[in-house]
Amino acid sequence: MSFFHSLRFRMTVLVLLAVVPPMLLAIFFASYQAAQIIRQEANQNIASKAQALAHSVSRWEEKYVLALRNLRVQPGIVSMEAKQQKPILQRMVSVYTDAYLIHTLDLNGMNIARSDSEKPKSYRDRHWFIKAVAGNDITPQTLIGRTTGKPALCLSTPIRQESTITQTEPTQPVSSSNQQQSVSIEGVATLCMHLSKLTQEVGAVRLGQTGFAFLVDEKGQVIAHPDTKLVSGKELTDLSAYPPVKAVLQGNINLSSFVNQASVKWLFQGYKLNNGWGVIILQQASEVLQQERRFWQLAMLVAAVAVLGVGALTWLLATRLIRPITDLTIAATALSRGELNQRVNIERNDELGTLAKAFNSMAQQLHLSFARLENMNEELQVRLQQLKQAQTQVIHSEKMSSLGQLVAGVAHEINNPVNFIYGNLQYADEYTHELLDLLRLYQQHYPQPVSDIQAKATASNLEFVLEDFPKVLCSMKVGADRIREIVLTLRNFARLDEADMKVVDIHQGIESSLLILQHRLKAQSNRPAIEVIREYDELPCVQCYPGQLNQVFMNLLTNAIDALEELKMEKLKAECLNQSTNLQPSTQVQPANLYIRIRTELLDKNWIVIRIIDTGTGMTKEICEQIFDQFFTTKPVGKGTGLGLSISYQIVTEKHNGHLKCVSSPGKGTEFMIEIPIQQQD
Ligand SMILES: Nc1ncnc2c1ncn2[C@@H]1O[C@H](COP(=O)(O)OP(=O)(O)OP(=O)(O)O)[C@@H](O)[C@H]1O
Ligand SMILES: [Mg+2]
Repeated sequence: MSFFHSLRFRMTVLVLLAVVPPMLLAIFFASYQAAQIIRQEANQNIASKAQALAHSVSRWEEKYVLALRNLRVQPGIVSMEAKQQKPILQRMVSVYTDAYLIHTLDLNGMNIARSDSEKPKSYRDRHWFIKAVAGNDITPQTLIGRTTGKPALCLSTPIRQESTITQTEPTQPVSSSNQQQSVSIEGVATLCMHLSKLTQEVGAVRLGQTGFAFLVDEKGQVIAHPDTKLVSGKELTDLSAYPPVKAVLQGNINLSSFVNQASVKWLFQGYKLNNGWGVIILQQASEVLQQERRFWQLAMLVAAVAVLGVGALTWLLATRLIRPITDLTIAATALSRGELNQRVNIERNDELGTLAKAFNSMAQQLHLSFARLENMNEELQVRLQQLKQAQTQVIHSEKMSSLGQLVAGVAHEINNPVNFIYGNLQYADEYTHELLDLLRLYQQHYPQPVSDIQAKATASNLEFVLEDFPKVLCSMKVGADRIREIVLTLRNFARLDEADMKVVDIHQGIESSLLILQHRLKAQSNRPAIEVIREYDELPCVQCYPGQLNQVFMNLLTNAIDALEELKMEKLKAECLNQSTNLQPSTQVQPANLYIRIRTELLDKNWIVIRIIDTGTGMTKEICEQIFDQFFTTKPVGKGTGLGLSISYQIVTEKHNGHLKCVSSPGKGTEFMIEIPIQQQD
């Protein structure tokens, strides 16, 4: 499964798609609002600074206007006498620190009194004098102080004197209504101040790195500016063409912007004071916007962190959610491989926990079912084995029982006539003796019989017959005895009627088997007779199933005969090969030494062993390991079924609690050992 198809990846993408857009939207709107507030605050800051500065400048000026108004009405001043005016002016200049000169002038513009020690001067050409004489209440004028070289403000006001004029009419009494108050301008009072305090105040206004304030008079000339170059020299710098100044002189303005020659955008706010002056505050737009920009950058950083955080959290959550599924998948895969003891350890109370429990119980059930199936399979295997054994036994016992029945039938059929013959032979013997005695008696009493009888006696060789006939009967008796013995042996081999254990002579069983196999032991056209060497020990009778043990003897003897015949055949083939290739003269092929040795021994007081040893082909180790397996045979189809030894093994080991062992080496021969107890344990 590729990474992009994994559930974890899909879940993460899904959650990001669902969460991130609204989250980014929310962050954007919140940031937008905040940016607006920041911008408003920045603007507010400019506005409030501008307002505060305007207020401060107005108050400063008003203070001096008020002082001047107070001055002009003082009697000493109104008296227009230098003696009286001078101390007042000197006291006042010492009180108002910004003031550097206060003086009075007559209507010709000549000083009456001055606060300083300068000689009286004429100021008749000055604008402020002309305006004051013309009756203007307060006339301000900004200028560069001649002595200080710094901006200064001169305020002038007319000095008025009140006089009462009485109009006398002859017919009217004198009354107040006839008296008229007249105010005449007697001179001019002027107050001159440095603007250094204002310059300081204006210079102290800073907004960030680039923001500053400045002050212009009603003509647009700079009277206070942080840049000292603009407020020095002989003349005031005219900035009336400067866009903010131009705008302010036309009236109060809200926050505006302009781009200077250096293409820098500035934000500014200005106030026009009552006296016509303008207060202007500027700040570079980039600086104002910088905060906003920084805020936006922060907002974007927050958004990025939020997206990454959501992504990471979702990933972790998906991993946590999917881990049980992964565990389940691993367990299910292992289960499908046959590892049925697989269980998942997921302790949860949700659907995954339920799934895990269901999986575990399914695995357990599967395990149980499989174990049950395995048990059943084992049982079936055992049953199959038993069935096979039963089948084998049936086949073999069928074979043996057919042979037994045949043998028993033949024995039975022979037994009757033989008994008949045997039973009558005694009578025949008796009758023969009687007849012979009678004949001899005739010969004694009639020595010379008639010629016919004499001729017949001579022809039938009577003397020989008389002598030989008893011998014939005797030999017939011996033959009949032999037949009876054979029949007994045959019946002994068959033992059809003996299903239970019997205590029998083992040698009898071996002999009866040998009798059955007699025809195979005899010399054949292609081989000499097989010699049977009997080395019987004195054995006690053994408790056994005689019929079944006979089967074992038959099988082992048949195999031995087969092995000897095969060896003979191999030798013959080798001989033929040698003859055809003329490698060796045929006389060099030695006749095979064909014999079967049957040795019985008493192993100890409880056990006997019967060894059947042949000098046949022998077996390799591999064949030896398989000979007791059912249906294992090296013989051609039709000759061997591969059941003989497996049945023999079963009879010896299971039925008689004995051992059947084999020692063999190829080309040398084979020895089978049947070890059985003399007495079976109950
Ligand atoms: N004495 C022996 N010498 C050499 N090989 C033997 C001898 N006895 C048994 N064998 C080998 O063991 C095999 C199995 O013997 P077993 O008696 O079980 O089956 P079989 O003789 O082939 O067939 P059958 O069922 O007719 O007896 C034989 O095919 C043979 O190869
Ligand atoms: Mg066999």
